[in-house]
Amino acid sequence: MKRFDTRLVSLCPLARDYFELRFQWPLSKPSAGDTSGLQDTVPKPGTFLTIRTGGQYDPVLRRPFALSDFDASHNEAAVIFQKRGRGTSWLADLQPGACLDILGPLGRGFDIPPRGYRPVLVAGGIGLGPMLYLARFLAKKADAGHCEAPITVLGFRSADFVPRMDLLGGTVICTDDGSAGFHGTVVDWLLTADTGLPPAYYGCGPLPMMAVLDRLAGQRRAPFQAAVEQWMACGIGACAGCAVAMKDGSYIKACVDGPVVDGRLVNWEA
Ligand SMILES: Cc1cc2nc3c(=O)[nH]c(=O)nc-3n(C[C@H](O)[C@H](O)[C@H](O)COP(=O)(O)OP(=O)(O)OC[C@H]3O[C@@H](n4cnc5c(N)ncnc54)[C@H](O)[C@@H]3O)c2cc1C
Ligand code: FES
Repeated sequence: MKRFDTRLVSLCPLARDYFELRFQWPLSKPSAGDTSGLQDTVPKPGTFLTIRTGGQYDPVLRRPFALSDFDASHNEAAVIFQKRGRGTSWLADLQPGACLDILGPLGRGFDIPPRGYRPVLVAGGIGLGPMLYLARFLAKKADAGHCEAPITVLGFRSADFVPRMDLLGGTVICTDDGSAGFHGTVVDWLLTADTGLPPAYYGCGPLPMMAVLDRLAGQRRAPFQAAVEQWMACGIGACAGCAVAMKDGSYIKACVDGPVVDGRLVNWEA
């Protein structure tokens, strides 16, 4: 984890209230005696960062966002965010070149599934960002023979929320009202789809979607790695503001024990 100031490279509207924000990532080659830590490796898909929005301490809390892309050749990273309140409205008004105060990468990311499992990546709404990064990451790993090629299933309320951007071939778009792609939810699609191999589910999205995915994983005895988007305050394990209830009655801290957790252990109905 590190805190750094960086420059906004671009801010691109993708869909209704959705933006992609790209910025420079201070990845550098280690030099003799360098103890800055900036030469750390590429951040894992599923990890997140926090951005200070607005003035120096107003709003006080940094806003958490999952990484949606990482381009090591250009030292660039990205997040996809939905404009919702004060912090994200501030981000949506930034111009290229603006200074960003970032803390990250934070938390635990996704693990690669073993060979012989089909990685099935499922995103609802703003769960999109971490799943797009994971999809690109796993596609490269699959090309190198480390896992099977992933299938990515993205769900939206309607066509105006579907991002206008390059998606990996074979990505499935679902809309609740049928205005784009498959007519139905991501889970409706999963129930009818043949993934060819036993599935390993990866999910990020609204609680009802995660609860259904958990049941499906249980029925199919499939692994299920879930990224939880719990309310957070400090983002670094110091305040217990991000407690997530587990099925055994215990609690974990989403910011340090997650955000990626074993989805079959989470109490999604809590
Ligand atoms: C680990 C993690 C990763 C996230 N990744 C993304 C991402 O990739 N893209 C993205 O758009 N959003 C993401 N979020 C949610 C994002 O942090 C909030 O939408 C953002 O903080 C809202 O800030 P705001 O000041 O604009 O809104 P506020 O004025 O603070 O709140 C506006 C509304 O946003 C909702 N909200 C606020 N904070 C959260 C939160 N932490 N989780 C869920 N809903 C919230 C509430 O419903 C609230 O009414 C993530 C959250 C977490 C914890
Ligand atoms: S947000 Fe403070 S402990 Fe997780």
